[in-house]
Amino acid sequence: FEVSVDPTASDKGTYPYYMLKEIDEQPNVMRKLSAKYLDQVGQPVITPALVEKLRDSDRIYIVGAGTSYHAGLVGKAQLEKLTGIPTEVHVASEFAYETPLLSEKPFFIFLSQSGETADSRQVLVNVNQKHLPSLTITNVANSTLSRESDFTLLLEAGPEISVASTKAYTAQIALEAILAKAVGEAKGVAAAQTFDLKGQLAVVAQGMQSIVDEKNEIDQIAQDYFVQANQAFYIGRGIDYTVSLEAALKLKEISYVHAEGFASGELKHGTIALIEPGTPVIGIITQAGTAGLTRSNLEETAARGAQTLSIVRQGLARPDDTFVIPDVDELLTPLLSVIPAQLLAYYTSLNKGLNVDLPRNLAKSVTVE
Ligand code: G6P
Repeated sequence: FEVSVDPTASDKGTYPYYMLKEIDEQPNVMRKLSAKYLDQVGQPVITPALVEKLRDSDRIYIVGAGTSYHAGLVGKAQLEKLTGIPTEVHVASEFAYETPLLSEKPFFIFLSQSGETADSRQVLVNVNQKHLPSLTITNVANSTLSRESDFTLLLEAGPEISVASTKAYTAQIALEAILAKAVGEAKGVAAAQTFDLKGQLAVVAQGMQSIVDEKNEIDQIAQDYFVQANQAFYIGRGIDYTVSLEAALKLKEISYVHAEGFASGELKHGTIALIEPGTPVIGIITQAGTAGLTRSNLEETAARGAQTLSIVRQGLARPDDTFVIPDVDELLTPLLSVIPAQLLAYYTSLNKGLNVDLPRNLAKSVTVE
């Protein structure tokens, strides 16, 4: 491991930890991305050569590690829906040595906040040896991955100092959506042409603000249910399942509570055996097609004694839901549903007296395989 955190690199002002500052910056990052990559009428502003390469590919391979891998899982849903191009997401350290079969015209997207992750770079080295086209989406201009891939899109999230990634995750998801819209429009896909992404990102920015303004309530929930917990589970289906993986990673990284994200339909195939009286189980419910199913799964855990909580999109909410997030397009809900989970992890860590920004055994940028 190599620790590359420089606490002087950015000013945390009155914030006790960078993580809280970075969580709070997310509405602004959304606005910056929208201003940079969408023009006044909402058309994507992306290098035409990049859009053409993607349009002409027959399969997209997204590669990342940790939180960036989780952002890739959301990107897959967006790219497939808006471009029609089959998309695979891979953990970099697995891809490097167990390379999957490649299609005839693959295109690689590397997601990396730092642009320096050795596992991801190893894949890029292989991709370059095969002369295959690639894009790096990163927060750091001139980083290794940026320099060595054909194209770069910058996240414009500002320095991320806290080891636990927050604003880079949401920036990656917003930028993947912009890219998907650009490529989908180039292919004439109706879902991309009619997607009012600029309007939706404005709603997202406002929605994020309304959630971060509820900090005190989330702090209280962390104290009531998470500080004493020795395990916790997030559950969801589809895109909500991918957010449950990220939500659980946040909690384990900085609060050391053993947390996992599960596909809610899989609970009954094993995981539900772990539920003990008081175990927190948080259902993420933002997709109309699966909301009822996830609710039933959440109730099944409550019947076994779990302390259930929920993160629910307004249009699907019931009076007893814990966190109700504003309505946005179903391809963008991770931008909002992840925020209560980031704050829950933050306050659990804080209330346990841990060093939120520098959790044990972890590094911000891992430059060894
Ligand atoms: C480290 C960090 C994680 C991060 C991962 C990938 O493990 O602790 O927060 O998600 O690396 O980093 P990258 O810079 O490639 O996004």
